[in-house]
Amino acid sequence: MTEHGFANRLTEYGDREFALFLRRSFAQSMGFSAEALGKPIIGIVNTYSELNNCHRGFRELAEAVKRGVWQAGGLPLEFPVISLGEVFLSPSAMMMRNLMSMDVEVMLTAQPLDAVVLMGGCDKTLPALLMGACSADIPAIALAAGPMLTGSYHGERLGACTDCRRYWARYRRGEIDREQIDEAESQLAPTAGTCGVMGTASTMACVLEALGMMLPGGAAVPAVHAERLRHGEASGKLAVAMAAARRRPSQILTQASFENALRVLLAIGGSTNAIIHLTAIAGRLGIHLDLKTLDALSESTPVLVDLKPTGDYYMEDFYRAGGLPVVLQEIKPLLHLDALTVTGHTLGEQLAATDYTFPAWQQVIHPAAQPLLSNGALVALYGNLAEQGAVLKRSAATPALFNTTGRAVVFSSLGDLSQRIDDPDLDVQPNDFLVLQNAGPVGGPGMPEAGYIPIPRKLTGVKDMVRISDARMSGTAFGTVVLHVSPEAAVGGTLGLVRSGDRIELSVDQRRLSLLVDARELERRRAEQPPISPPTGRGYDWLYRSHIQQAHLGADFDFLRSERENP
Ligand code: FES
Repeated sequence: MTEHGFANRLTEYGDREFALFLRRSFAQSMGFSAEALGKPIIGIVNTYSELNNCHRGFRELAEAVKRGVWQAGGLPLEFPVISLGEVFLSPSAMMMRNLMSMDVEVMLTAQPLDAVVLMGGCDKTLPALLMGACSADIPAIALAAGPMLTGSYHGERLGACTDCRRYWARYRRGEIDREQIDEAESQLAPTAGTCGVMGTASTMACVLEALGMMLPGGAAVPAVHAERLRHGEASGKLAVAMAAARRRPSQILTQASFENALRVLLAIGGSTNAIIHLTAIAGRLGIHLDLKTLDALSESTPVLVDLKPTGDYYMEDFYRAGGLPVVLQEIKPLLHLDALTVTGHTLGEQLAATDYTFPAWQQVIHPAAQPLLSNGALVALYGNLAEQGAVLKRSAATPALFNTTGRAVVFSSLGDLSQRIDDPDLDVQPNDFLVLQNAGPVGGPGMPEAGYIPIPRKLTGVKDMVRISDARMSGTAFGTVVLHVSPEAAVGGTLGLVRSGDRIELSVDQRRLSLLVDARELERRRAEQPPISPPTGRGYDWLYRSHIQQAHLGADFDFLRSERENP
């Protein structure tokens, strides 16, 4: 029988009784009574860091979780793991996501924990926490930071980070000057919490709620709202019940719950990054998600949420409109209602428990009968340029560019891009396709969010162009941007064979991405490529380069995917 509390996962001395005696002696130094030390231990994984502004409220939120744990009869013990502040990491937070997941898995399986509350929010943190918790497979509930509130500049509402990009684009086009962009800077991220639009952080919070790994409504409550603290308290309480029921991620997360999460991703018009994260999370449990599944679900899922970067509103408006529970009610006929949640109830039971009427007074969430788009928020593209697939956020793209052929203007690396994109002599026209190579999982490394290639400065007035790369794009960005091309250029993908002047066909209708170059010419170019050398270097950089998988496999490490998987 599995032990509980401090008797769980004892340090090895070859004498279990001594190990327990020693552990309890040291636990006494925490200052708790014997009664407290006998309760189930609820770990609070706190990703607070002064280098993660989005988690600035976590000290107060962790106290709320503790209140809930005490009320329900548990002993809350808070501990840190690596925190990933999206904009404070080089080369990219994505490169550290798997490292964070390993930290989480190891600490959850090494310490005497009966259940855990996973506190995360900033882009890669919730995925990494859940990947680690799935591998550890101990009772776990996710608690999101919650989104930021909006700021204001000269009467205009601003929110990170769609408006950061919009203002920067205006500055690049010369529409505003240095003084104005400097003034706007202080208003773009005005409170604690994650980016205030439907970027990756908010998308992942919604997706985790849809997976059943979070209490209902938890994704959208603003970080600084009192309701966020009450939600934290309730999560702490529930963690104690989950410990008693031994309700583990592997019991909650099934093919059905991942399909629910994909439905929600599509209905909210969420970030493309969520596809990679969901694939990686599923892979930890031996569940295979692929782009064809996403594309099939996309055909029959309406887009209901009118949030930036594609729409008009911000996360705080989504919260006031009722948040994800309203979306779930509206797409209920499309969901697997028998999927279990952290509460011990199924999603269907949860939705049936509320007396639901569509909140007709608001415009942020559309009713399923009058969607923003009838289907196809995200589409998967295949072809000789993306044999394992690529992704386009159709809802954020320009329809006039959906089915077009263009001349490639190639940048061979991120360095090449930054050197030449604004060169007045760059040979580029508005109808050309901008192609970025060597920015994928290996080439980037870490798939930086560079897929949103800036429009060359010389093309004044051009607002969108077809852009193709093996990189990712921030969930807060928009445009006709083809991402996650797999296999990537750095491992021999056809993307690396594209040359400036080649013709490329994009057909969103046919879900096709083709390099219109003769197969023999491609073979000739392939033969000229330098051989791929084995990873060199040391430490985490070496580990990463040696074991990272391609985007269509979630960019996880090969040795971290579940052995149970049967792809
Ligand atoms: Fe943390 Fe956007 S920078 S969520």
